[in-house]
Amino acid sequence: MSSLQSTESRDERISRLRAEGRLVDRFGRVATDLRISLTDKCNLRCTYCMPAEGLPWLPKADLLTDAELVRLARIAVETLGVEEIRFTGGEPLLRPGLPQILQEITALTPRPQTALTTNALGLSKTARALKDAGLDRVNISLDTLDSQRFHDLTRRDRFADTIAGIEAAAEVGLTPVKINSVLMRGVNDDEAPELLRWCLERGYELRFIEQMPLDGGHVWDRQQMITAEEILHSLQEHFELTPDPAHRGAAPAETWLVNGGPIRVGVIGSVTRPFCGDCDRTRLTADGQVRNCLFAVEESDLRAPLRAGASDEEIAQRWRTAMFGKRAGHGIDDPSFLQPSRPMSAIGG
Ligand code: 5AD
Ligand code: SF4
Repeated sequence: MSSLQSTESRDERISRLRAEGRLVDRFGRVATDLRISLTDKCNLRCTYCMPAEGLPWLPKADLLTDAELVRLARIAVETLGVEEIRFTGGEPLLRPGLPQILQEITALTPRPQTALTTNALGLSKTARALKDAGLDRVNISLDTLDSQRFHDLTRRDRFADTIAGIEAAAEVGLTPVKINSVLMRGVNDDEAPELLRWCLERGYELRFIEQMPLDGGHVWDRQQMITAEEILHSLQEHFELTPDPAHRGAAPAETWLVNGGPIRVGVIGSVTRPFCGDCDRTRLTADGQVRNCLFAVEESDLRAPLRAGASDEEIAQRWRTAMFGKRAGHGIDDPSFLQPSRPMSAIGG
């Protein structure tokens, strides 16, 4: 670090980053990680995410086209300093243009890192093509190792497909393969050690995520949530966990070395151990709205200016303004907390 930077005050740093055109906010956080939701649709119906009948899907005309989406990603990378792009959903594999989008985005300079958050249905057939198109890594959602429970939890009998997708991801080198698990009381909260053992045997990196109030059916209940602390206790009965010496940085998962390492396990305590102060994310919904936080109640429309012929610089400026107004934290534990009207499946994880 230069002496200039180390003597710079927070306000001076924010002014400098604004002058450089970066996605900085009033608290000095800089967004470098862009999450793009490619669709709000999904082929599963996880109980903590969607009601059985699904949700009112976004109208097709409102969705960004592939070309519009790539243009926004280009502005983010070339003008706003975004370094990593993660595709989310709903289920991003349902977007037919994904390989082409990946190809165009990884041709940008500087080339962003690319990742996908997926339920892995169908991935066994497309993993190779996605890797070849420029996909670097995947995070796969798997909450149980019991196929009947999987059926109950996702309301679809697709356990074997998800497992095949995970294996394919590892085989073609979409690594490290990360597995995301959400534990629910009385449903799968006895499975933490088993999930970890299963991942350890295969070299996958497991991360448990506290259930967040983002479900389409608004059934989230603070009392029912399995906390990070409970997860750690249940793991510690079977494994020796030591704090990972690598600093957590902007990564939301607190990680532990399992039985001395090198494999780690992560716990994302979104509710009980918020990491908002280190957040480096900006989000784009499938219908072209910037969200400066997963829990934001306001969004900033980029689709209308895009379709009205705005220049790259005008769009970049709207994006900067959207991020500058980011709140300090999500305040889930505050009585005044309001669940955003858009559910997780339409925001992306
Ligand atoms: N709370 C926590 N995690 C959730 N996910 C989906 N909905 C929720 C929620 N309400 C997870 C999915 C997937 C990732 C996108 O986020 O299981 O792994
Ligand atoms: Fe689909 Fe993911 Fe929601 Fe499950 S959590 S229904 S896989 S979007």
